[in-house]
Amino acid sequence: MPIDASLSALAPAKVNLSLRITGRRNDGYHLLDSLVAFTDFGDQIEVSEAEGLTLIVQGPFADAVPHDKSNLVLKAAQSLAQAAGIEAHAQITLTKTLPAAGGIGGGSADAAAVLRLLIQHWSLSLAMEDLNKLALLLGADVPVCLNNRPCRMTGIGEDLSPLPPLPPVGIVLINPGHPCETPAVFQARTGPFSDKASAFEPGRSAQSLAQALQADPNDLTEAAMQICPSIRQVLKHLASSPGILLARMSGSGATCFGLYDTAAQAQNAATDLAHPGWWVAAGSLAK
Ligand code: C5P
Repeated sequence: MPIDASLSALAPAKVNLSLRITGRRNDGYHLLDSLVAFTDFGDQIEVSEAEGLTLIVQGPFADAVPHDKSNLVLKAAQSLAQAAGIEAHAQITLTKTLPAAGGIGGGSADAAAVLRLLIQHWSLSLAMEDLNKLALLLGADVPVCLNNRPCRMTGIGEDLSPLPPLPPVGIVLINPGHPCETPAVFQARTGPFSDKASAFEPGRSAQSLAQALQADPNDLTEAAMQICPSIRQVLKHLASSPGILLARMSGSGATCFGLYDTAAQAQNAATDLAHPGWWVAAGSLAK
């Protein structure tokens, strides 16, 4: 490995296009049925050669995440090294552009990107099954982020099946600036569990995708609104934005998304939706 070799990867935002809660396991984890896709923007991860294992965190949301060994990217690196029976040595640079505790998998996407990069950097060949087990131990959203492709996620996040290709679609993400802790949202959820979703056919246009998602909501929305009432305001603004096809919350919130025909429309909407204290970003969903 040359001394100056460094590798980098995007850790995109994970978007739960739909999220049904279908049950609860004895250990308290909830069973999900969720359609998941990824944006073409997000955090950036770089790994390079180093004596030990070090982490540099930079970017607009650097202060929102731990810089020590409790950061999920370092936990991911350590557990990968342990599984491979090697000493962990790398410098990891995390450029944090996504809000933390926001329902868009920030920490999970970062951990998954670090796993992908370190496998390459350390020239490892792990069985996919072992890697997925390791990912699940890091967090329920890490396997889906490791997969990094549109998929249907069931179980607590470990059962993944690919979706048909998504049509081109623009997306706006808005976070109202209040962290919404996942365990608290799951705990606040009440009412019966949902049935599993029926087969998903995204069609060939952003409109057909939005139409296909209409019947399949996010079951955590009400619970998240109790903890973070500003979600209601975000959804209201998104829903009245010109060209909006679908406005919904992602994951356990508080980030919400709007779907638009094109990335250009999404960019225009993002400019209009700017609001003090809100984080607003736009781009496309990756196919
Ligand atoms: O696995 P992760 O650390 O992301 O989960 C955070 C918390 O969210 C869990 O401790 C649990 O309270 C809740 N959760 C859940 N069911 C899931 C995923 C997360 O109840 N499928």
